[in-house]
Amino acid sequence: MDKMLIQGGTPLEGEIRISGAKNAALPILAATLLSTTPHRLKNVPKLGDITTIKRLLEKIGATVSEEADHCVIQVQAIGNNEASYDWVKTMRATILVLGPLLARCGEAHVSLPGGCAIGARPIQLHLDGLEKMGAEIHIEHGMIHAKAAKLKGAPIYFEAPTVTGTENLMMAAALAEGTTILENAACEPEIVDLAHFLNRCGAQIMGAGTDKIVINGVSSLSGADYEIMPDRIEAGTFMLAGAITRGDLMLKRCNPADMGSIIEKLQATGSEVKIQKKSIRVIGKEIKAVDAKTLPYPGLPTDMQAQFMALMSVSDGLSVITETIFESRFNHCAELRRMGADIRLEGHHAVIKGVPHLSGAPVMASDLRASACLILAGLVAEGETEVLRIYHLDRGYEAIEEKLSQVGASIQRVKGSL
Ligand code: EPU
Repeated sequence: MDKMLIQGGTPLEGEIRISGAKNAALPILAATLLSTTPHRLKNVPKLGDITTIKRLLEKIGATVSEEADHCVIQVQAIGNNEASYDWVKTMRATILVLGPLLARCGEAHVSLPGGCAIGARPIQLHLDGLEKMGAEIHIEHGMIHAKAAKLKGAPIYFEAPTVTGTENLMMAAALAEGTTILENAACEPEIVDLAHFLNRCGAQIMGAGTDKIVINGVSSLSGADYEIMPDRIEAGTFMLAGAITRGDLMLKRCNPADMGSIIEKLQATGSEVKIQKKSIRVIGKEIKAVDAKTLPYPGLPTDMQAQFMALMSVSDGLSVITETIFESRFNHCAELRRMGADIRLEGHHAVIKGVPHLSGAPVMASDLRASACLILAGLVAEGETEVLRIYHLDRGYEAIEEKLSQVGASIQRVKGSL
């Protein structure tokens, strides 16, 4: 396993180019299953999770070829409508093939994901929605078996907004007979990106980005050329890297319009944030203690909570971070404490008393965003920080050590260590 070695203390200065969004690319790649003709996708990030879904699509019957700046995917025929536990245990987002496979070939077998480091993460709302559309679903030996000769449009109300649940049902409904109305749908920008892609393929989806999405099913979809949206969580993470090192970072090719809550929160801590249409400049100044609460979009994303905690660890006072989306997304706290942070956990609140300095230490990454949090802490800590188990990081941040080195960080990947 690789690890990352960081010498903290350098203010980061320069430009970073933001990659395509992992959480938009994953459902869009799954949606290529809905048509027989080729898709040309641009700005697909080079990440562990993206390689996993491409390999899964190939196993199902896709041909995938990488060209200079795009990826061509075609699924002429489905040879295999199963995604076994080997795929699901590698990546939970494998569940995103369930809706498209069922819509395309009337039958799908996908292993049921278990919990993960950040919470129980049920998918019952995906299954309830598919049942409302006429699917017969049963779970046996840990596998979801779903069948529907032809899915039928239906009104579906989500008890809680779910991102991949909304995406799964939107994809299934695109080829269903009649109209599906998703209410209390998730509103994340990645859902809008998926809807734009599907509409480019010939789907009829209205209202994505609001809590009511209307999908008029069509009889077939075609291939499309599409450019994946920029990754707002990668951009947010680098914004915090600028702030925590009191540097001056210009982030290029991002979409500030999707990042209001992150921008506002960072401004409240004292950083200067300058916004243009496709770029954000962060000039790190003081770090004031500010409370934060994760919420569904447009609230502060849970995927930024760990990184924000790194920033609050070196703030000038007391802050409370409340996690409302995932019940155990605080694994990074114990690691931050090993670096000298003063954090107390009370249920789904973390009470953080800012300290003047963190001190470098060996720390263990437990999930993707916790890894990003430890990298941020390492960038500001005194001395050397060793972040172990960075395979989590490689699932969601493209070339992070190269991007950070380019702006002055002392960060190095060490291959093959424990
Ligand atoms: N929920 C239910 N029942 C369900 C589905 C969800 O109660 O059937 C609950 C969950 O337990 C949770 C809440 O709804 O409390 C939100 O979960 P959601 O289903 O929206 O999460 P997800 O779709 O599994 C996606 C992202 C996550 C991100 C969350 C929240 C992808 C591939 N994953 O997960 O991204 O944290 O939405 O925004 O889009 C990451 O990139 O690091 C990551 C974990």
